[in-house]
Amino acid sequence: MNVPSSYTQAWESFWRAAPPASGSVFWDAEASLTVELQLPLFEPYFDAGLPVVDFGCGNGTQTRYLAQRYDRVIGVDLSAAAIGHARRADPHGVAEYQQANGADRDAMHRLHAETGDANVYMRGVLHQCEPGDRAPLIEGIATLLGERGRVFAVELAEAAKGVLMGLAQGPDGPPPKLGAVFAHGIAPGEVADEAVPGYFRAAGLELLASGEQLLTTTESRPDGTRIELPSNWLVAGAGA
Ligand SMILES: C[S@@+](CC[C@H](N)C(=O)[O-])C[C@H]1O[C@@H](n2cnc3c(N)ncnc32)[C@H](O)[C@@H]1O
Repeated sequence: MNVPSSYTQAWESFWRAAPPASGSVFWDAEASLTVELQLPLFEPYFDAGLPVVDFGCGNGTQTRYLAQRYDRVIGVDLSAAAIGHARRADPHGVAEYQQANGADRDAMHRLHAETGDANVYMRGVLHQCEPGDRAPLIEGIATLLGERGRVFAVELAEAAKGVLMGLAQGPDGPPPKLGAVFAHGIAPGEVADEAVPGYFRAAGLELLASGEQLLTTTESRPDGTRIELPSNWLVAGAGA
């Protein structure tokens, strides 16, 4: 299935305009504050011998960290411009990168045929989807996992909306990096908290663990504290 072109174009124009420096995108927090803190949540479930796909990898900050921990890591993103950023930020090629739509069934079958069963890391992708794309996206993940892979997914919680709206409606408008997201027509979507595990179950996956975690951004409040967004995480797989 194809993601609507307006959605694809919104991501493409966002990433074309995004500055290359690390930390210049709203959610692009350093790995030490993101994936590194999440490792204890998913490492016990990941078979370390399997490749890892960073699903919706953006400019590859988390992908490059994962490549220090796993032998083969592949960053996949809908946006060719995002993949361009990720490749340029990885001159030694510690990870591989591929432009692909995670909701494209054929593309995910082709990737699985090439990697075999893989683990999947996904941070902040499902909530950006058009509602109709959410189920195919998680089906794409199930295809990549096969029998042996496990997925770790962390997505904004419903409560994040209040924080984002509060920031956007402040006297000076949204912080610049959040404003850049809105300017390209990307609005954090609303996925009901209880709906997220439902997408994974509907794709035939069993929930193995779940919890809450704050998603660190790169913007700070006037008092200097980092803006963090309420999020939920889960680990799922095809089951025993
Ligand atoms: C909020 S960003 C998060 C990027 C990265 N995971 C991170 O944490 O820095 C969401 C990313 O998902 C990508 N994306 C959105 N829909 C996608 C799809 N259908 N297939 C693959 N990537 C997608 C976007 O291009 C964007 O780079």
